[in-house]
Amino acid sequence: MPPLLEVKDLTVRFYTQEGVVTAVDNLSYRIERGEKFGVVGESGAGKSVTALSVLRLIESPGQIESGEILFKGQNLLELSESEIRSIRGNEIAMVFQDAQTALNPVYTVGEQIAEAIEHHMGYSEAEARDRTIQLLDRVGIPEAETRFSDYPHEFSGGMQQRAIIAMALSCDPDLIIADEPTTALDVTIETQILDELRELAESFDTAIQLITHDLGVIAEVCDRVMVMYAGKPVEVAPVEELYYNPKHPYTVGLMSSIPRVGSESDRLQTIPGTMPDLIELPSGCSFHPRCPFAEESCTRSEPPLTDVDSGRQATLDTPHAAACIEYTEGLAEGLTYAVEIDDSGGDIGAIDAADGTAAATSERDGDD
Ligand SMILES: Nc1ncnc2c1ncn2[C@@H]1O[C@H](COP(=O)(O)OP(=O)(O)O)[C@@H](O)[C@H]1O
Ligand SMILES: [Mg+2]
Repeated sequence: MPPLLEVKDLTVRFYTQEGVVTAVDNLSYRIERGEKFGVVGESGAGKSVTALSVLRLIESPGQIESGEILFKGQNLLELSESEIRSIRGNEIAMVFQDAQTALNPVYTVGEQIAEAIEHHMGYSEAEARDRTIQLLDRVGIPEAETRFSDYPHEFSGGMQQRAIIAMALSCDPDLIIADEPTTALDVTIETQILDELRELAESFDTAIQLITHDLGVIAEVCDRVMVMYAGKPVEVAPVEELYYNPKHPYTVGLMSSIPRVGSESDRLQTIPGTMPDLIELPSGCSFHPRCPFAEESCTRSEPPLTDVDSGRQATLDTPHAAACIEYTEGLAEGLTYAVEIDDSGGDIGAIDAADGTAAATSERDGDD
């Protein structure tokens, strides 16, 4: 059986007044059936453009330049407009950040979910209503039967987002692409919704591509994660591996911006600098101007995604891959020295970006 989704060498550009923006650059990744796959990176990394490309929703001045998007072995880029429309919502559902745009204000929440179920699943009106109430209940909406008749504005932000998730699940898709689904919500509600999303996806055997700028969110839901920077993956790994053995300096930087429960200060360490201009990328590794470990060689050639164990070029089968010269040139022992992990399995240290040395932020018990 072919994998659920295989994106191969995808390049997407926007032809703007200022120049040609390469938003996604030769990107490849795979999502297996039922897998919870995370995509993380700062704003502007190309996460949403990647998601929209999978659904063929890129609009002018954007263009999918090259690549393949294989869904169950079929290249979505070769389908007719009506064929891709039947995949959207039916087999691949999308949950956007902004619930307001996904819910129609003039229909009740229940009506619009039931409508989608009738349309996609061929249920009768009564069956669709029953299933809608069931789903609203499963996504954690209390008194679902009464709430069925509420209009979107009568729902809180969190409830609206739950309703959107119910709508996405209503057609029993094989893949849900959720783009920053909880970014606008407060942390407690966010955690509840993410837990439910994971649980529901598991019980429906639905795969998830979860897009976020927050590695903490990934930890809540995902099995595997791809870290993106300037339109490319810079690290791909199982979630645990990424947390305890991050290899790319950018990943380490993202780690240090995760708020930690019980940490003394609310101020997060952020990576200095900003995402580069995608019209004219820096030479060599795009991250080098912000990297505390950059050497002269980092400005010369672009490091390919490399298997961190073998040092060979990574493939879609590579469990842990990183695009950093440390691996391609076999320098040093990787970047593990940049991260200090508490023996008790607790805290993750952070790079002190000012002088480029590893700063232990872990709270150790005792010995110092
Ligand atoms: N409609 C558009 N017109 C021009 N450029 C765009 C457009 N949409 C996205 N881009 C470019 O693609 C880059 C990646 O965008 P996006 O995928 O939305 O980032 P994010 O990782 O925050 O989701 C943006 O920084 C921008 O330069
Ligand atoms: Mg986005």
